[in-house]
Amino acid sequence: MICQISDTHFVSNNQKLFDKYDTYSKFEDTINTCNKLKDKPDFYIISGDLIHDDENFYKDFFKLCNQLERPVYPMMGNHDQRQALKKYVKTNLIDNNGYLNYAISTYPVEVICLDTAIKDQIEGTIAESTMKWLEEKLKKNQNKPIIIFMHHPPIEIGSVLFDHIKCNNGKEFINLISKYNNVKEVMFGHVHCFFSKFINGMEFSSCPSASIQYPIDAETDRNLNLDTRSYIKLINFTNGELSKDHIEIN
Ligand SMILES: [Fe+2]
Repeated sequence: MICQISDTHFVSNNQKLFDKYDTYSKFEDTINTCNKLKDKPDFYIISGDLIHDDENFYKDFFKLCNQLERPVYPMMGNHDQRQALKKYVKTNLIDNNGYLNYAISTYPVEVICLDTAIKDQIEGTIAESTMKWLEEKLKKNQNKPIIIFMHHPPIEIGSVLFDHIKCNNGKEFINLISKYNNVKEVMFGHVHCFFSKFINGMEFSSCPSASIQYPIDAETDRNLNLDTRSYIKLINFTNGELSKDHIEIN
């Protein structure tokens, strides 16, 4: 079982996100929720926006991550700092071009994690070298189901707030993965809400944030009353079938 955690937007414990949201305590709660799960995940994927902008937050973030009882795979989001984050991840999670692109190959499903962040930008992209890296992985792994994780969604979700800051070459990405019928799922973060849609037989689904949710139908982000309920996502792949569940953090 995989546990996806997303958009923790961690800040130090004397600060609040947007002067309002205590994402430090929320991450402690997230870890407690994870460690109380009856069925322990094989590993955790934290799909970007680990911290909120300031690279100094990584130290405490990873200190807390060490309390998780299974391996943790961090990914890049638009609020992460690639150079600083690399100091905290194993070198085998960094590709030859310096992106955090990696595959987890020791399970019945091939798990591919893509780096879609562009330095100092909110929208995402799949760099040319990443697209080539992905194609190689797809070619080599045609005999087992594949799940792809990425921070930015490659599609619009019907949100005024998020559709203009999605992965900007998602169509090219979908054209590529559609050639491989063993690609089953694309899972992303970034959108801070629940979302799911099937395209070409693949499910594209979000992981809601482990900090705050934005209403999918919000017209503006001004004066929004954000939902502080937060979630982790469990992805089970026993018996060759994939099933998903969301657990509320408390
Ligand atoms: Fe986020």
